[in-house]
Amino acid sequence: MKVGGRAMRTIWREGAAVFIIDQTQLPHRFAVKALARAADVAHAIRAMEVRGAPLIGAAAAYGMALAVAEDARDAAIEAAAALLLATRPTAVNLRWALDDMRGALMPLAPEARASRAWARADEIAEEDVASSRAIAAHGLPLIEAALAKKGRGPVEILTHCNAGWLAAVDWGTALAPIYLAHEHGIPLHVWVDETRPRNQGASLTAWELGEHGVPHTVIVDNAGGHLMQRGRVDLAIVGSDRTTAAGDVANKIGTYLKALAACDNGVPFYVALPSSTIDWTIEDGSRIPIEERDASEVSEIAGATADGGIARVRLTPAGSPAANYGFDVTPARLVTALITERGVAKASREGLLALFPERRSRLAGE
Ligand code: MRU
Repeated sequence: MKVGGRAMRTIWREGAAVFIIDQTQLPHRFAVKALARAADVAHAIRAMEVRGAPLIGAAAAYGMALAVAEDARDAAIEAAAALLLATRPTAVNLRWALDDMRGALMPLAPEARASRAWARADEIAEEDVASSRAIAAHGLPLIEAALAKKGRGPVEILTHCNAGWLAAVDWGTALAPIYLAHEHGIPLHVWVDETRPRNQGASLTAWELGEHGVPHTVIVDNAGGHLMQRGRVDLAIVGSDRTTAAGDVANKIGTYLKALAACDNGVPFYVALPSSTIDWTIEDGSRIPIEERDASEVSEIAGATADGGIARVRLTPAGSPAANYGFDVTPARLVTALITERGVAKASREGLLALFPERRSRLAGE
């Protein structure tokens, strides 16, 4: 996608150096950061300099490549995988990418591993871009259908958190069909949930939609239900950090409440995700580990000051404890459909298996 009119991705490499956009600086500063070692990648994921399930997976793959470039022995590979896996618990793309990299590297002799690691990490990044493009193509008809049903523009779409190109390598998941619809000239407007406490909606989704000229309005997290009651939302599209084999969806905290409001108001609620986000090992969403982050993300907030600086201020009384749950689980019954790179599926075991039939025998054998 574009930054200041220039095509960019969220992660790329030049030779043996990996670069990211440091998302903790957005929307106030655009900063590129070099990552030289696996430990730098682990820090970037943990500190949310890179975030969003697909991007976390791609970053982990490059982290493995950086580790192997330093030491290609079995023990070093296992240590790097453990370091990276411990960074964040909910997005399953992390485990998926690490398993993939280990599977590609371990059968090889150590001297053959470094070049293969770079090649496989590049492939994982390219595959993510291809998945996002396919999600865009499969989601576009849903937006076209909303326009046809309404009979006039703009199509009003609500999204939560950031599932745009900043959450993936390029294009994104939930925002990918929106970008494609915008490119096709479909009149649309996006309601952007601010997404406390880290404000990925207010800072990242608003920024990237603005860079692409997509009409949008930032709203507080509690406004979505009201807008749905007033007929101001035609459909909702969100992303996912982990979707179970039965279609339960873990996504940023607050997603569940939006799905409940959508169900109550007859608003279609779509979840867009690449198949690397599907956890085929579990069906029940209550088994998904939910990240709990530092309470200071709730009790404090950062923003730009009038003189161009960045300041952190306290919101809560000094003595009040705060709890910071990063994700919640939306049961499959509240999800209208899943938009994947293979097409649109009912949020159910049978719906997913119809698109991914190769999983049928593996699931039966488990
Ligand atoms: O904590 P984050 O910013 O890594 O979480 C990302 C999300 O939860 C997004 O909502 C997104 O939909 C999942 S990644 C495309």
